[in-house]
Amino acid sequence: MRVYKAKDYNDLSRKAANIISAQIIMKPDAVLGLATGESPIGTYKQLIEWYNKGDLDFSEIRTVNLDEYKGLAADNPQSYAYYMHTNLFDSVNIPAVNINIPNGLEDDSVKECMRYDNVIHQLGGIDLQLLGIGGNGHIGFNEPGNNFNKETHCVTLTDNTIDANARFFASRDEVPRYAYTMGIKNIMQAKSILLIASGEAKAQAMYDSFYGPITPNVPGSILQLHNNVTVVADEAALALILKEHEITSGGLIK
Ligand code: GLP
Repeated sequence: MRVYKAKDYNDLSRKAANIISAQIIMKPDAVLGLATGESPIGTYKQLIEWYNKGDLDFSEIRTVNLDEYKGLAADNPQSYAYYMHTNLFDSVNIPAVNINIPNGLEDDSVKECMRYDNVIHQLGGIDLQLLGIGGNGHIGFNEPGNNFNKETHCVTLTDNTIDANARFFASRDEVPRYAYTMGIKNIMQAKSILLIASGEAKAQAMYDSFYGPITPNVPGSILQLHNNVTVVADEAALALILKEHEITSGGLIK
């Protein structure tokens, strides 16, 4: 694991975008696993800026998103499909057919999860998976206590996650109770993983994920077992880790 300490959110976004750019340049038809939430917004903005300068080409890139609320249509402004179009896809030259997101409107969970796993397998797996982290250590929508062995499945969101995501909705009551998410197994099968975290609200989850015991109670802790993880986080998110460890300029931990 490499950990890069960012000065602030802008620095974090630029560093994360640099890693994604490198993947796109090295493998123009790479499969990118993408995330939503507040954390990646700056990263996507930076990628768009480099695309506009002519430094990046998304014409062969394929994408699979981590998760989607069950019950929301793609054109609902709170859906992750809408978020992805607004924050990235509509501003770069990725072909619509190369974009994959769980279908929130599919009522049959078994059918939708099987379809999505097939999509990931048919693409040959994920080259680089971008992840944020929930304050309770969740990745994607894999909540604490969820089995590490699952592929795409439908989850019941915890109160903690509903509270955290209520800020994006008119009221807490409007936050969907269920979501489709890639499972830990899909995430762990990605060839490389880039996790980004910003702000002190993530400090405990970051410490527990990377320095605590590996347990389903902290879904992010499974990443300790992946052989190609890069973490980019700001000082606030790294605060508890930095109390005990030093991070070298090369991203190694002493
Ligand atoms: C949401 C998403 C996750 C995201 C996490 C953190 O619940 N399902 O994929 O990583 O919350 O979000 P944020 O970056 O807004 O803190």
